[in-house]
Amino acid sequence: MPQPHRKHLLTSVQMAHFVATGALRMDAVVPDEMNQQAIEVLNNGIPGVPYGTPLSEAFVDSDFVQRLVRLPEVAGAIHSLVGPEPTVDHHAVHIRKAHEGEAQNLHGDAIIDVRTDAFDVQLMYYPQDVTLEMGGTLSVPGSHLRKTNESDTGRYQNLLGQTRLVCPAGTVQFLHHGIWHGGRKNDSDLDRYMFKIRFNPTVRQVRLWNTDDLYDEAVAAELEQSFPWYENATGRLERYNRILLWRAISGDDTYDPNYWVTRVSNRPQRVVADRVNNPHAAANKKEMA
Ligand SMILES: [Fe+2]
Repeated sequence: MPQPHRKHLLTSVQMAHFVATGALRMDAVVPDEMNQQAIEVLNNGIPGVPYGTPLSEAFVDSDFVQRLVRLPEVAGAIHSLVGPEPTVDHHAVHIRKAHEGEAQNLHGDAIIDVRTDAFDVQLMYYPQDVTLEMGGTLSVPGSHLRKTNESDTGRYQNLLGQTRLVCPAGTVQFLHHGIWHGGRKNDSDLDRYMFKIRFNPTVRQVRLWNTDDLYDEAVAAELEQSFPWYENATGRLERYNRILLWRAISGDDTYDPNYWVTRVSNRPQRVVADRVNNPHAAANKKEMA
């Protein structure tokens, strides 16, 4: 993959938004001319890619997908999130038929993933205008760091603050692999199309974006967001985990705007027990020294 131009990399504020919400949406970023071709291309199917194939070698039989991942904004976002030359985990074309009557349960796309300093991302491309009726992907902002086991969240029907994607044609959404999500029921007269690729990083995900605004106040504001489905106290845990992730990807292990992490990582090492329990011994030791 050619190196994207710096101006197409994500900003720190956009990265912080991704770390806080688990998603980043780019509206109508794919040109119309490609969206027009997409339905036919997706209906014909995208040739399979073996797990772990480097992105630059992955879609040699699909000119369309190569163009998609090389669009400047898309390539810039991929580089910012997972770095140069990620590998392809898997890809899929999802078609939800008109009036199909089925919805997907809420789920994460993996079993519990305990990595704290690395993550996969899923690119989701929507070639059509997606209306509310068409049942675009539902996701729960801020759920990606609440580790769950694949479909065990399926029994939750609706969470306060969940979003159903409504977007213009050519929208690309990047999701953190841990986010709770599910395709909704299509109640419209149109078949709904979505193309997904999951990427695995092959480098440490540290400062891969445009870091000019690394210490902008808006970064902290993004990381401090709360979501209506959080419990009062556990919501703090989400912020705590975000700060840990931000520290990992920004390479600044002191970053902590509201001291959530500092409070519970303070483990002083200086021992003063001698002086408290046996002041003479402490004094003697000093004299002998
Ligand atoms: Fe999924």
